Amino acid sequence: MAILVTGGAGFIGSHAVKHFIERGEEVVVVDNLSTGHRAAVHQQATFYEADVADSARIETILRNHSVTAVVHFAAFSLVGESVVLPYRYYRNNTCGTLGLLEAMDAAGVKQIVFSSTAATYGIPDEMPIRETTPQRPINPYGHSKLFVERILRDKVLSDAEFGFVALRYFNVAGAAADGSLGEDHDPETHLIPIALQPAIEKRHCVTIFGSDYETDDGTCIRDYIHVEDLCDAHRLALGAIRPGDARFYNLGIGRGFSVKEVIDAATRVTGQNVPIELGERRPGDPPVLVAAADAAREELGWQPQMTDLDEIIGSAWRWYQQHPDGYADAATRSADNG
Ligand code: UFG
Repeated sequence: MAILVTGGAGFIGSHAVKHFIERGEEVVVVDNLSTGHRAAVHQQATFYEADVADSARIETILRNHSVTAVVHFAAFSLVGESVVLPYRYYRNNTCGTLGLLEAMDAAGVKQIVFSSTAATYGIPDEMPIRETTPQRPINPYGHSKLFVERILRDKVLSDAEFGFVALRYFNVAGAAADGSLGEDHDPETHLIPIALQPAIEKRHCVTIFGSDYETDDGTCIRDYIHVEDLCDAHRLALGAIRPGDARFYNLGIGRGFSVKEVIDAATRVTGQNVPIELGERRPGDPPVLVAAADAAREELGWQPQMTDLDEIIGSAWRWYQQHPDGYADAATRSADNG
């Protein structure tokens, strides 16, 4: 009996694989390595370089490992890119997930935890955002994930044995406490790693995408959650799924920080000035996204441990100091070690 983790070589997926393995689970990873890193996959996981859209291959993997549940991370996740390349997002995130779901159907696997997103809410009418807040995405990324939520709901209606939990992530950041895993995107587009890059001389300055939003300091506000807390919510969600479940939970801390506040925190954490420049708004960015995450706490028993922004950024900073070139230098080190 095993769990299949798709996207287990990616930032969040690799942390989740580690989390599950350290809690005694047998884990099979599928990742096409389009954005993930082979070096990020835990050594005790069985790894397949495969695409979730390849139903026949996934079905074989599910059967061969007697997989009982899937945790589905594999996706493209950049809001700005999705506006420029919408087909890429619908093809991979929506159609690719259909391939995975068909493989699960064929192999009789009835449980899935799905990585959804705060981007499904668009520009919400209420703040903080509840699970019942109407979902009206303003970018293809959010739509590509919302379609999957719809598909999963319909599947539950058609199959009494099927059950799912969709976790709507807010802004995931940080790195593993033991320093073994971190965030390594190429190119990097996320604010926290970008705000740390000047301190390791990877970037001259941080461009603030829009300083005329209707927020206190004019910059966008986001709810930053530590990656290990997010993984813990997946473990709890997996344990909670029952046949017929169609459950949705926001995963955030419930506090918003502006782009400027994140940059100030990066300055405190690194002890170095973070040079900034003011730029245009980035298409597809909602002004404010803050979670009401009471439901995950009350119904799953989730208790995020890292709720302080400086601590979250500090955890990312430790990774960047040790891995200025991300997994490229991790791979070199392991080769050096034989
Ligand atoms: N930002 C800048 N400058 C940069 C990078 C980002 O000002 O160089 C701003 C963005 O415009 C945004 C904020 O920092 O206002 C956060 O941007 P990120 O790119 O770090 O994250 P996003 O909020 O765009 O998206 C992230 C995930 C999505 C997820 C979303 C949910 O990448 O997958 O959080 O809130 F949907």
